[in-house]
Amino acid sequence: MEEKRSALPVPYAMELPDRVRKERYFDPDFYAMEAELLWPRVWQMACRLEEIPEAHDFVEYEFLDQSIVVVRTDDMGVTAFQNACRHRGVKIVEGCGSCERGFQCPFHGWRYGPDGTNAGVTQRRTFAEHNLAPDDLNLVPVRCEVWGGCAWINLDHEAPPMRDCLEPAASMLDAWKVESLRTELWFAARLPVNWKLAIEAFVEMYHVVQTHPQLVIPTRFGRRDDAPFDRRAFVDADIQYLRAMSEGMAGMVHANDVRIAEGLREMELPADPTQAMATWNRTLNDAVTKWHRDAGADMPDLEELDARGINLTFFHCFPHYFVLPMYSSASSYRFRPLGPEETLMEIWSLTRFPEGREPGRPTPPEVWECDDPRWPPIPTQDFSNLPRQQRGLHAKGFEYMRLSRGLEGHISNFERTVDGFLADLPYERLHRALQSVNVYPFEQPILDLGF
Ligand code: FES
Ligand SMILES: [Fe+2]
Repeated sequence: MEEKRSALPVPYAMELPDRVRKERYFDPDFYAMEAELLWPRVWQMACRLEEIPEAHDFVEYEFLDQSIVVVRTDDMGVTAFQNACRHRGVKIVEGCGSCERGFQCPFHGWRYGPDGTNAGVTQRRTFAEHNLAPDDLNLVPVRCEVWGGCAWINLDHEAPPMRDCLEPAASMLDAWKVESLRTELWFAARLPVNWKLAIEAFVEMYHVVQTHPQLVIPTRFGRRDDAPFDRRAFVDADIQYLRAMSEGMAGMVHANDVRIAEGLREMELPADPTQAMATWNRTLNDAVTKWHRDAGADMPDLEELDARGINLTFFHCFPHYFVLPMYSSASSYRFRPLGPEETLMEIWSLTRFPEGREPGRPTPPEVWECDDPRWPPIPTQDFSNLPRQQRGLHAKGFEYMRLSRGLEGHISNFERTVDGFLADLPYERLHRALQSVNVYPFEQPILDLGF
């Protein structure tokens, strides 16, 4: 029972909230603790629903040494079970496909229904009765819930429901109609770095000036209040920023939305800079909203979201999933550890389609190395730092990272939440930490997590 849990000692813990010990990013024992105490207790994004569009479609989701089968049910719900035959443990499936006729183990031919129920033991009479207890022969169920256009799994039967663990991001992304997005592009990168290091390259703006100089455009980044204001130059620069985010991130700002902005280039704007920017932003929001609604897509009112402070807001869903909305569309990331110093990062470009005109099942991506010349400019820049950082951490004279309290607070909140799991704290005590991480990650202060 949870009340009896007492905190375990955490090696290389976050003793000061703005210092991160380097061993957290390569020590095999720390990695083993994460494998035992963190990953089996968190809700993980297992697949996008468009990967399993039809009843009986399945997809395999792997993390660490675990393999889970996620299946679309007859009533278009989703169910999941562990991918291990109850006879001698062979994985029942690999990759994706249809289980219309159920599953058959490739080794000795035991059969299972699409819901994981055992449907046949070959040469049954040769087994003793105690090895044939009916409940023991079904594939082991895994908790599975649907949210935000994705199926989520959790190996812990005691974990709170998924929504409780993803708030407040879940409600804010619901307002943004995240569930209507579909995959337009899907990429995968093998990064020679720890999974937390990979995540932490994407949760602060501090690196933008040095790493992505093409994004340092005063309309969005670093405008000085005393700089002279030129309305035409402002609009040109903002369109340039949108294009840099579109081409640089393979559609994080969708090309349609860039075209919509270009169509507004000649609009009249007030002379006052604050009013001019507000007018431009409102007009662009309204034009994007209208264009997608007229096309028949399920599109939120961007102006209304702006009023609620949740437009152009990026979200981290602890531990490994991100949605980064920009106007009608979004980039989305998922990170999975492949070893203490190796990570699989996936990037989706998501957008909205008119109802009934959604594209088909997306093809799983080929995994590219982080220096592959096919990466668009923005990931190329981020990926160029990461292997150097992982190598640098091993330097004998380097002991810990020092975080900016003003600019890198999210890294502290995230790492201390990891510590909460490694200490095996009960969910009631982890709740506040999860709520602190499942937010807009940029420029978060270092927060009191309650432990
Ligand atoms: S391991 Fe599956 S039937 Fe033998
Ligand atoms: Fe970056």
